[in-house]
Amino acid sequence: MSKPKVFVTRIIPEKGLSQVQQFCDVDLWTDELPPSRAVMLERVRGVDGLLCLLTDRVDAELLDAAGPQLKVVSNHAVGFDNIVVPDATARGIPVGNTPGILTDATADFAFALLMAAGRRVVEGERYVRAGKWKTWGPSLLLGADFVGATLGIVGFGRIGKAMARRASGFDMRVIYFDPLTPPDPALNAQSVDMETLLAESDFVSLHTPLLPETHHLMNAETFAKMKPNAILVNTSRGQIVDPQALYEALKSGQIAAAALDVTEPEPIPMDSPLLELENLIVVPHIASASTTTRDKMSLMAAANLIAGLKGERLPTCINPEVYKE
Ligand code: DGY
Repeated sequence: MSKPKVFVTRIIPEKGLSQVQQFCDVDLWTDELPPSRAVMLERVRGVDGLLCLLTDRVDAELLDAAGPQLKVVSNHAVGFDNIVVPDATARGIPVGNTPGILTDATADFAFALLMAAGRRVVEGERYVRAGKWKTWGPSLLLGADFVGATLGIVGFGRIGKAMARRASGFDMRVIYFDPLTPPDPALNAQSVDMETLLAESDFVSLHTPLLPETHHLMNAETFAKMKPNAILVNTSRGQIVDPQALYEALKSGQIAAAALDVTEPEPIPMDSPLLELENLIVVPHIASASTTTRDKMSLMAAANLIAGLKGERLPTCINPEVYKE
């Protein structure tokens, strides 16, 4: 019997890829850069399954280009703003993602960014490499304290809560804004409105998905409500922060610093004025990039793909309504 045909849009970790290769006839995109839209439209033609990344847009045009035999879309990410899910649902195609397994790695990294920005680690490193380190200085590169500081978490889902647990270990006060999530009595965290969060937080960490309501949630108006010592950390999606407003807030000292794992657009353009700022840390969307986590993501993406190809329910399905009929 012939194997189902799938397009895998990048080399994913071997653990998951080998499972896909065992079960499927794989067309694997091996470049470091994502396939262009034209290539995507071409390569999905006639496939039974698509394993894609957050850099690949999946919408009605792409699903129709694939054809009516397409059985499953598996996203190698927990976030799925690259996929127009209703377009897949309308065609009866289940879509999988990778929730849960990257929670700790992402929260660890968000906390690392928070501490790196608060204690000016990257500035210090640049200072040394630039040959500026002449002696121990009583006022050299002074930063923030964490004990007793207030951490404001925007989005209190799995990763936001994991961030709260880490902050408790540093004796921080934790407040959060998430109108959709009920309080978690196990966590020492207080639900507040966004105004209060902005006004009281020494650190603001973003953990909300990208939705029409969260697009440019951090903008000139919201930055104006933050404390001048505040530090912004973004490990969610770049589009939640207006980059121009962030530049102005950092440049004018309206807020003290920011640390971004994600930017709008990605990658950040090399001529972005943000890159001129000393009080900004930017890294290339690596919050979930621990070896074990990426292995698990590849396995979950493979499991979703293979389940869909077998006509079984996806282990982690974004649009379970496709099973309701
Ligand atoms: C995701 O999974 O959505 C992250 O942004 C990358 O791991």
